[in-house]
Amino acid sequence: MKNYSIAVDGPSGAGKSTLAKAIAAELNILYVDTGAIYRSIGLYVQRQGIDPKDGDAVTAILPEIHVDMVYSDDGLQHMLLNGEDVTKEIRLPEISMYASAVSAIPAVRSFLLEMQREMAHSHSVIMDGRDIGTVVLPNADVKIFLTADVDKRARRRVKELTERGTPRPFEEVLDEMRRRDWADSHRAAAPLRAAEDAVLVDTSEIDFEESKERLLEVIRRGLAL
Ligand code: DC
Repeated sequence: MKNYSIAVDGPSGAGKSTLAKAIAAELNILYVDTGAIYRSIGLYVQRQGIDPKDGDAVTAILPEIHVDMVYSDDGLQHMLLNGEDVTKEIRLPEISMYASAVSAIPAVRSFLLEMQREMAHSHSVIMDGRDIGTVVLPNADVKIFLTADVDKRARRRVKELTERGTPRPFEEVLDEMRRRDWADSHRAAAPLRAAEDAVLVDTSEIDFEESKERLLEVIRRGLAL
């Protein structure tokens, strides 16, 4: 079978990365987390003390940035920012807003477009993000739009942060999630939206296992496996 691609888009906290990772392991394909690429650019911008909303300033430093995505033997994606492994650092909560702000800049999006397409060209992938089915891989074999109520998503994120040893108050996480949802879906450049041919999966009322089964069902049907 030739390389195939599965696009998974949706707002933050809908379970995209956990589910996509599990599905990649099950189907033995590559999981590509595109949010991590925007986070790496966000981290660089933060380190330079640049306002992430200043499109001209961010565009001007893009030539200084080299991001690489590499995979360790256990299949985990690592992000290299100018050669430095920043996989952990890009998960810091303050980097989420930096990533969201820089991702609204068209030059940043076009800077990263080829890299994402190349991954899908050379491997079978399940790729998650905001514009994978609409812009990055408009010809993806399967497109899924994963969503859940913002309340549920915030609750899950709080649980995840607590388990990671970095707990944060629910109200704070909910407020930040709402702001990021709004920013990601109202920007002019490649806003978050479902592709017309995407299958909508709402995980508000279903747990991880059931969500995974639903996605696998959609994927098997889409790939005619
Ligand atoms: O998936 P994430 O939360 O790690 O993504 C961080 C930010 O990057 C998100 O707020 C919007 C942006 N992003 C994007 O614009 N397009 C993508 N394909 C993936 C992420």
